Amino acid sequence: MLKGKHIILGITGGIAAYKSVSLLRLLVKGGAEVQVVITPAGKEFITPVTLSALSGKPVVSEFFTANTGEWHSHVDLGLWADCMVIAPATASSIAKMANGVADNMLITTYLSAKSPVFIAPAMDLDMMAHPSTHRNIELLRSYGNNIIEPETGFLASGLTGKGRMEEPEKIVEVLDRFFEKNENQSLAGKKVLITAGPTYEAIDPVRFIGNYSSGKMGFALAAEASRRGAEVVLVSGPVSLDTPSGNIRRVDVRSAREMLAACESEFDTADIAIFCAAVADYAPEQVADRKIKRGDMPEMTLRLVRNPDIAATLGSRRRDGQTLVGFALETDNEMENGRSKLRRKNLDMVVVNSMRDAGAGFSGDTNKITVVTAEGDEKSFPLKSKSEVAADIIDCIEDLSV
Ligand code: CTP
Repeated sequence: MLKGKHIILGITGGIAAYKSVSLLRLLVKGGAEVQVVITPAGKEFITPVTLSALSGKPVVSEFFTANTGEWHSHVDLGLWADCMVIAPATASSIAKMANGVADNMLITTYLSAKSPVFIAPAMDLDMMAHPSTHRNIELLRSYGNNIIEPETGFLASGLTGKGRMEEPEKIVEVLDRFFEKNENQSLAGKKVLITAGPTYEAIDPVRFIGNYSSGKMGFALAAEASRRGAEVVLVSGPVSLDTPSGNIRRVDVRSAREMLAACESEFDTADIAIFCAAVADYAPEQVADRKIKRGDMPEMTLRLVRNPDIAATLGSRRRDGQTLVGFALETDNEMENGRSKLRRKNLDMVVVNSMRDAGAGFSGDTNKITVVTAEGDEKSFPLKSKSEVAADIIDCIEDLSV
């Protein structure tokens, strides 16, 4: 899968930099074109001569070549790459990437990279275990970067623990899998309908009942389905997110009723429908046509009426060959509630997440899910970025459809 791929290999200043030489060799052997970018500290551990000889390209380390003034454009590099791998990534470089401290060529290249980024941390066990390293790694994960977890083993310090950079062969396997997946057009010819975000139920012209949903999970699903070749219709409640690139048609709505109407006109031709929106269950019975004034009212009562259940409405009209997926964000009895929604709404699969799990749920960049299917299967996943979770969910949907 590496043949012809443009890869930036970022090397930072750690003992494990010696392994980057093998990594470079394996990437080149696999047919990739590799541009090495090394930090000034990295050069203390491994020489640019070795790296340029193996990659067949001058190694980039500074913003420009001092004697000729030649400018090395991190922006061009960021556009050129199909992926960027930073191995080893020291605690210091991880902190700089997490916080945008662009004080060397490698970090500016990282910040300019348009391609997926893989980061292989390498450091002593205590540095690895420090809360600040942990937080920085989680920040990088939340930006959608892929962390290649370090191994537990014998470290340069003589101690044994977690912090050894993953072996070059394993890193190459990760990249191979990534390119294989990326070129996977398994949803080509399929139409995928996705609901996302909250709904706003108007009280008067300036107020509404809403919820904290950010829409990030639904947008990540749209991006992943489109990456796999699907035609995506993304029906979104009010969110402040850009539409992901790809074959995605976005329909903006506000209320549950508008969301249902938009879905109804797309549902019959959809092969897969994913109900990811946090739809308000109730809406004010009357919407005041003028702003409600505080006046002298010591209290006020809003009368609410039930909104339509979009998933259940469409679930009751499904045709053969359609796959329907819902979500269940719960605070308790998670699995039981998830299974009951699966039955009640006539779905094939429900993605359950619990408000009790740190990092799961509405507005963050990560999620922790368990998938339950109508066939009775159950599969749990660890905490991951929402884009990785989207890939897991779509893998599960594809498993259902075969
Ligand atoms: N859903 C929907 N329309 C609604 C309510 C929910 O399409 N009016 C969908 C959600 O998008 C989600 C699933 O149904 O896929 C479960 O949503 P949730 O709010 O958890 O379920 P409810 O049926 O509202 O159950 P409860 O409020 O009792 O948890």
